[in-house]
Amino acid sequence: MRIIVGIGGGIAAYKAVMLLRLFAKDGHEVIAMPTEAALEFVGKATFEALSGNPVSTSVFERVPEVNHVRQAELADAIVIAPATADLMSRLAAGRCDDLLSATVLTTHAPVIMAPAMHTQMWEHPATQTNVQTLRELGYHVIEPAVGRLTGPGSGVGRMPEPEDIFEAAQRVIAEFPKGEQHPSQIPGYTPTRPVHTGSAEEPSSSFALGVEPGPGILAGKHIVITAGGTREALDPVRFLGNRSTGKQGVALAQAARDLGASVHLIGANLEVPAPEGVQVTRVVSARELRDAVLEAQNNADMLIMSAAVADFRPAEYVEYKIKKIADSSDAPTIQLVRNPDILREVVERRQKTGTGARLIVGFAAETGSAERTPLELGREKLVRKGCDFLALNTVGVNQGFGTDENTITLLSSFTDREPVFSGSKQVVSDQILRTLAQYVKP
Ligand code: C5P
Repeated sequence: MRIIVGIGGGIAAYKAVMLLRLFAKDGHEVIAMPTEAALEFVGKATFEALSGNPVSTSVFERVPEVNHVRQAELADAIVIAPATADLMSRLAAGRCDDLLSATVLTTHAPVIMAPAMHTQMWEHPATQTNVQTLRELGYHVIEPAVGRLTGPGSGVGRMPEPEDIFEAAQRVIAEFPKGEQHPSQIPGYTPTRPVHTGSAEEPSSSFALGVEPGPGILAGKHIVITAGGTREALDPVRFLGNRSTGKQGVALAQAARDLGASVHLIGANLEVPAPEGVQVTRVVSARELRDAVLEAQNNADMLIMSAAVADFRPAEYVEYKIKKIADSSDAPTIQLVRNPDILREVVERRQKTGTGARLIVGFAAETGSAERTPLELGREKLVRKGCDFLALNTVGVNQGFGTDENTITLLSSFTDREPVFSGSKQVVSDQILRTLAQYVKP
């Protein structure tokens, strides 16, 4: 699960570090979200290193992503420790003057607060009124502990120990959403764990993105998947194409269907049968694929662009079969022009208009170069394309294309973690979708 740990500006902020570690050790994806004041107590680098994710305090960072909305939607829970008197008063009033308060105001996930302050501040009617308001609003405010406070005093107001906050948060998360069974209540549930499968590229972190367990986790979701390879006609009988058979994209469509999603497969020259029970649109060229994607993606929860799209097409289509001239060694010169970059286009549209799939996933087949590893090229491509995830596939003549096995490194703009999935294309697809599923909740 994805847990935001919010940190208010109090001396107990140092204990939030322990709380972060408890969630991370339990296999959760953790986002540290301190207030500016919290950074007076603990440095940003500590939170970034322990969570493995970048830290922001302001809504004016990562503006094109509308970070507070994105974080609010992706979170499974927000746990605020320490919740200072000031932070709680801002939240009770519905203020949103930093990233944490704006995220809390936006989220539908459960919010758990562990107050920490001096006894006089805790007992002040203003604070007590704020706590009552917060509870009436549906937030979970844990009772502060009694004990030693900063300075000479002791009394009520001490932040509960990280282990106690962790347990309280687990209980709240397990009960949420009411009436529905949360994965952690399913017998045999194990918290998400690293998925190391050992491939040529080692993931940069010892944790993978969590892989969501359980059946039907994509029920109610609509997923558009492109598969296959485009063909760019030269004349009525010849084309420029590539070696993609569509196996990986078809496996993704099948896995998404099996996890409960409604699936629209846009197949470019598939060499394998499309799965039963999914909507299929067949296309040939990159421009046809573009039109089909733009039409299909609008209400999609995910758009997965696994098709190999030709970057270039012949500048001219010759209406009759190009003939060789008898007794001549002349060969025609084929002039090429650029095709539209569909992935880049859907990302730009979503940035400009807010329309399009909630999650946009690109694929990259890389052979590497003399200077760069495939992983380096993949990371650059993720940034260049601006998509949410990039599934990186190392290819060679007999690797990646047309095979039944695959190894994919999932790069993401949300986190630095880079899980590697290896196995049959069916298994790899299932793992990828279970990972992505966490980013399209509820
Ligand atoms: O740039 P490159 O072809 O390696 O990028 C691969 C990703 O971009 C794939 O997701 C592919 O479907 C998409 N793509 C595209 N339009 C193109 C070329 C690639 O959408 N013209």
